[in-house]
Amino acid sequence: MSAKIINGIELSHTLRTDVAKRAAALTAKGQQPGLAVILVGDSQASQVYVRNKIKACEENGIHSVFEKYDAAMSEAELLARVDALNHDPKIHGILVQLPLPAHIDANKVIEAIAAEKDVDGFHISNAGLLMTGQPLFRPCTPYGVMKMLESIDYPVRGAHAVVVGASNIVGKPQAMLLLQAGATVTICNSKTRDLGHHTRDADILVVATGKRNIVTADMIKPGAVVIDVGMNRDDAGKLCGDVDYEGALKVSGWITPVPGGVGPMTITMLLVNTIEAAERI
Ligand code: GUN
Repeated sequence: MSAKIINGIELSHTLRTDVAKRAAALTAKGQQPGLAVILVGDSQASQVYVRNKIKACEENGIHSVFEKYDAAMSEAELLARVDALNHDPKIHGILVQLPLPAHIDANKVIEAIAAEKDVDGFHISNAGLLMTGQPLFRPCTPYGVMKMLESIDYPVRGAHAVVVGASNIVGKPQAMLLLQAGATVTICNSKTRDLGHHTRDADILVVATGKRNIVTADMIKPGAVVIDVGMNRDDAGKLCGDVDYEGALKVSGWITPVPGGVGPMTITMLLVNTIEAAERI
């Protein structure tokens, strides 16, 4: 068997066409949607992610503001910037790129973002709304994964979904969205005993650990949908995910590549969330 590829670039293109239309409609009413992105420090990876987010805004008619600060910025200064953006009528979405330097309390910063501008969906009230089945914003990566499953008409209802990774950014919200879509969900974490025992029973396998090759072909149920959220570098410096892609291709029914899979979808859903925020005004 050779898996079918779920192409995140193509799907993003389709979804971004709709984003651009909705952005143009809002702009015509004098309410151009606006996103502010804050980056603190010099992480190369974060700079690339942030640049791609800003570029995607520009290409789809969303006003964007990029604020880059030195790693020595104080927590109080950052909180003051967030507060100013909370009150800026041109800004509908605020994203503070994570991770933040160790001297800044990331939770405190996330809680300072107005919940109705929290397009990442990380604010404690948005996490609670998601958990209780009334989401205001769905976190971008898990939201993108759900769109990928929708794009292949996958019957999530009744399926066994296994999420490997339990972060607040991906694993936990992913599990909630899958649960709400009717899946039976298993969440694995770094302490899970015999990971393969769980993954081998997955109809839908979402892997978000940041560990290269944590899932190999022998850990995948034949025909399963494999969604690889990982973003790592191999020994040659090439981008790769958390799944042994070449091996998984032979066993799974569907698979997302890295690059060109979940990555572009995360950015697309950030644009969608920004539009949704602006449309609510
Ligand atoms: N760092 C890694 N992924 C994300 C994300 O989706 N949002 C933010 N703000 N930071 C991140």
